Amino acid sequence: MATNGVSNGTSKVLDASKALDLLKEYESRDGLSVTDLLDSKLRGGLTYNDFLILPGYIGFPASEVTLDSKITRNISLKVPLVSSPMDTVTETDMAIHMALLGGVGIIHHNCSAEEQAEMVRKVKRYENGFILDPVVLSPSHTIKDVREVKEKQGFAGIPITENGTLSSKLVGMVTMRDIQFVRDLDTPLKNVMTPRSELVTAKQGIDLNEANAILQKCKKGKLPIVDSNDNLTALLSRSDLMKNHNFPLASKVTASKQLLCGAAVGTRPDDRNRLKKLVDAGLDVVIVDSSQGNSIFQIEMIKWIKQTFSHIDVIGGNVVTREQAAALIAAGADGLRIGMGSGSACITQEVMAVGRPQAQAIYSVCEFAARFGVPCMADGGVQNVGHIIKGLALGASTVMMGGLLAGTTESPGKYFLSEKGQLVKAYRGMGSIDAMESQKTGENAATGRYFSESDKILVAQGVSGSVADRGSVTKFVPYLQAGMQHSLQDIGVKSVTELKENVMNGTVRFEVRTASAQMEGNVHGLHSFEKRLYSS
Ligand code: IMP
Repeated sequence: MATNGVSNGTSKVLDASKALDLLKEYESRDGLSVTDLLDSKLRGGLTYNDFLILPGYIGFPASEVTLDSKITRNISLKVPLVSSPMDTVTETDMAIHMALLGGVGIIHHNCSAEEQAEMVRKVKRYENGFILDPVVLSPSHTIKDVREVKEKQGFAGIPITENGTLSSKLVGMVTMRDIQFVRDLDTPLKNVMTPRSELVTAKQGIDLNEANAILQKCKKGKLPIVDSNDNLTALLSRSDLMKNHNFPLASKVTASKQLLCGAAVGTRPDDRNRLKKLVDAGLDVVIVDSSQGNSIFQIEMIKWIKQTFSHIDVIGGNVVTREQAAALIAAGADGLRIGMGSGSACITQEVMAVGRPQAQAIYSVCEFAARFGVPCMADGGVQNVGHIIKGLALGASTVMMGGLLAGTTESPGKYFLSEKGQLVKAYRGMGSIDAMESQKTGENAATGRYFSESDKILVAQGVSGSVADRGSVTKFVPYLQAGMQHSLQDIGVKSVTELKENVMNGTVRFEVRTASAQMEGNVHGLHSFEKRLYSS
């Protein structure tokens, strides 16, 4: 009997040194090629949990694996992770930290154009270590005001300017030491502050290392930064400096050294004005945000953006078929966003009967878009490191996450205790009734993603709920990144580029996962266990 044209060898034991030579006699490598895995019309659409990647040969440490990948034709990331434009996921803080960690954040548009532009501006103005919007008071504020700041924000080192705002003349500084023994809470700060003449300051434009050296020398807790007219422009804090990490992978625009920032807009006429404001604020990449991207509205919007702002890269979507992709590529999209119905807060497939299992969608769209050099983003349904790697293996260049990042410190909103006493944060689909109603009533507020937001009867495509606390993205994203490096090491490739090449040339192989294989691959048979994913 022969298997793959090779004798099964029951009668003769072969010389072990010939093991590698014998491989050459098999017609194909073990496992399935990506086309055999996903081109099968009969098997039905697969998703992340329906298959595995087979291990390859490890000849290098995981630390040597690089994750550089393109998000659009012209922009690359060192860590191919993107936070979703949802109002419970990406505002200023998330966008700053995603960029510092090597990815990028896409600021949501469920707010006025001015608010969204202000968030973009803050990301673009961010300099690691410098506080660009410090709490500032005026000489006529009182000790009571300082105590209130201390209570709410936890610090009492406050610069005092002429009119109590940033960009006004620095006249002094108040710290806890200045106020702790003063009984009368109505005492104005001008009576207790350390005056300007006794303050150590630094000039605007100073770099972080120099500013750090001044802080260490003068042994103060805070260093005000002033411009040539002595107006306050920023503040450096010793306690922040101690916490400050180095961010060698930060996504920056080479010329300006500013952090990379993305934002989403809709496809309505008003969105053109919105985008102008975002571009004025320094935007680098825009996502045209729609759950079904193949529409006349989106095609015209992409064409208009490319004509009006030739320096801005546009990501179109969402798409799940090559026909949808073709329309947006022809309109001029520099990148595509893939996913319909796979999001964790999504009920699109159930309600609309449209969508596609995510693995199938990624493969179909990426195989097509790659021929035009258009990078694709796998959006939605990512629950772990393995899903990220599978998305990349099927052709995506980056991976977008909503729910996985919504429970972090940097997402908008406050933590609260769930009924079971667990620390959670709110997370809602942008097509949930909650989110759509806020778009209807909010002043100047957002733009439609689901073509239903302004209808009499809202048809929901999402739910609202909560997700568990995940700590800070400064710990979580590096965990995802290290996990990706180890996964690629197991597969036997040293980069995302090599992964994709080896998938396409058939060297990286796959296996379908039956329902029982999925059970086998998860923890089973234990009486109890704790699932800690990383040490922090
Ligand atoms: P997650 O990472 O699985 O939570 O999915 C996030 C993605 O879900 C987003 O980037 C959107 O593409 C998608 N999404 C957001 N809100 C909704 C919704 O209300 N319905 C359907 N999909 C949504």
